Formats: sequence, C-alpha cells, structure tokens
Amino acid sequence: MRFADSSMDKHPLLTIRQLDASYGPVQVLFDIDMEVYRGEIVSIIGPNGAGKSTVIKAILNIATPCAGNITFNNREITKLPTHGVAALGIGYVPQGRIVFSNMSVEENLEMGAFLMKEHLARKVAVDKVFDQFPRLRERRRQLAGRLSGGEQQMLAIGRALMLDPTLVILDEPSLGLSPKYVDIIFEHLIALRDDGRTLLMVEQNAARALSTSDRGYALELGKNRYTGTGKELLANPAVRQMYLGGGNTLSTAPESFHENASPTACNAPTSLSPTSLSFHRTMGHTT
Ligand SMILES: Nc1ncnc2c1ncn2[C@@H]1O[C@H](COP(=O)(O)OP(=O)(O)OP(=O)(O)O)[C@@H](O)[C@H]1O
Ligand SMILES: [Mg+2]
Repeated sequence: MRFADSSMDKHPLLTIRQLDASYGPVQVLFDIDMEVYRGEIVSIIGPNGAGKSTVIKAILNIATPCAGNITFNNREITKLPTHGVAALGIGYVPQGRIVFSNMSVEENLEMGAFLMKEHLARKVAVDKVFDQFPRLRERRRQLAGRLSGGEQQMLAIGRALMLDPTLVILDEPSLGLSPKYVDIIFEHLIALRDDGRTLLMVEQNAARALSTSDRGYALELGKNRYTGTGKELLANPAVRQMYLGGGNTLSTAPESFHENASPTACNAPTSLSPTSLSFHRTMGHTT
C-alpha cells in the first residue's frame, strides 16, 4: 500500500482543513478534514447528498468555502480561481462524462489544453493521452457524441490529463457504465496511479472504490464519519452497514477510525436566496 511506503513524501500533496461550505443559507459541509498523499488513490464515499461533490468542487473553487482552508503542494489554494488551480497541476473529471458531442475526440482533448499556447505542445499532450487510451487513438476523428458511454468517460479523463496534472480528481467515474466498462475504467485509474499520478475520487460504487483505493473517507450529512485504508473501511462492519448495504452494525467504531460529532456553523448571510447556486464567502473565516 502506497500510504505506508517509506519512500513516499510525508507531507500531504493536498490538505483540507476545517472546511465548511453552504449553498445560500444552507450549510452542507461541516468541519471537513482530508489529506491526500502523493501516489495514492483516495476515495470519498457517502450516500446521496452527503456532500461528496461539494468537497471536490471546493478544491476546484467551483464552490467557495465559507470557512477552512485547502492547500496543494504546500500552497494555499482556497481562493485561487479554477483556472489557477488547474495550472498548478490539478485535473478535474466532472460527473456525467461531459464531452463536446459535436467535436471530434481529438478536438475534445485539445479543449483540455486551453492553457497551452503552443500547437506542438498540444499535439504532444494529445499523443500522450492516446498512449494511455489506445481506444481513443483509434477513434480520434470520430465525433465524441457517437462514442459509447465508457469511451466518453475515457475521453473525459483524457481531457483532464492534457495539462499533465499531478492530482486527478474524479466525480463518479463509473456512474452509469456497463460492468465491462466499469472494469476498464478502474483499470485505467490504477494505471494512472502506477504512472505516478495521485487520484482523489468520489464514487457511488463504494465497494469497488474502496477495494481500489489506498485510503478512503466516508461522509455522512456533510461531516467526516470514518476514515482508514481501503481495506480497513471495507472490513469495518459499521461502514459495511452504512455505506455498502450489509454487515453487522457496531455500537462504537474502532479507535483507529475517526468519528466527527459536532458541526461548526457557517454564518450564512440572510441576503442570499435559498436557491442560490453559488457559495457565499465569509472572508475573515479562512485561516
Ligand atoms: N447547486 C446547489 N444548490 C443548492 N444546493 C445544492 C447544490 N448542489 C448541491 N446541493 C445540496 O448540497 C448537499 C450536498 O450535495 P452534493 O452534491 O455535494 O452531494 P453528493 O454527496 O455529491 O451527492 P450525490 O451522491 O447525489 O452526487 C445536498 O443536500 C444537495 O442537495
Ligand atoms: Mg455528487
């Protein structure tokens, strides 16, 4: 397991500390703490609405936290705009295999290199993605809208690799795929890790995600509930009961598992509409 590998950097690549977030007046994340080390695959699991996507949107600054901080490579990125986060080496694969349907596979990949000015550098990056996903090379001139769901997911991942990110963040990479493509996508994720990248993913397929991951975080109602290695979480009866749909419930969690009880309130401004899609900032709270 890479987490225990003595050759690994002891400083986390990514840290999330005491993160609170709200949509309008409704707080959805409470005091979230997470760490991702270089070379790991880390999964965030939890039921619908637990706040998994909001955590990764906060890292990308698609959603802005109202308290707490996020660092990447020892640099605070909490208030960095999304394109700045991408430029530092974080690739993002959003939920839903979002591709430009009327553009070719190759053109879709080039869209992922928006920060790359040189045509030649873009071509080299496209070629590297094709080495990783030979099936995309075979279909390079095909319209993305005509790819299968699994191929579109490969394309979405490939596009996130165009800027050669250190950390790749994926939201539900296997959602809606056939079992065959779920296998293929997870094999690709392991290959990306073996190629030296670090992965943070949200997955509804919790059993599959944990068995592929070095470590995991289980969220409940916007709070850290359990954390441990993938194996520890899979073996924990309480986790099995709550997140994997089976097993015996423990009255208390083992000591090695972190359980978080009390939420920290965000000071939600009353002027925001409850339906507001953007987060609000309470600047003074960021540490
Ligand atoms: N744009 C938004 N505006 C208002 N509330 C939102 C918005 N996005 C998410 N929420 C709410 O925030 C909470 C956390 O949502 P989030 O999408 O982070 O959960 P999730 O764990 O990713 O769920 P899922 O498994 O359904 O993808 C939910 O209660 C959700 O309804
Ligand atoms: Mg989600």
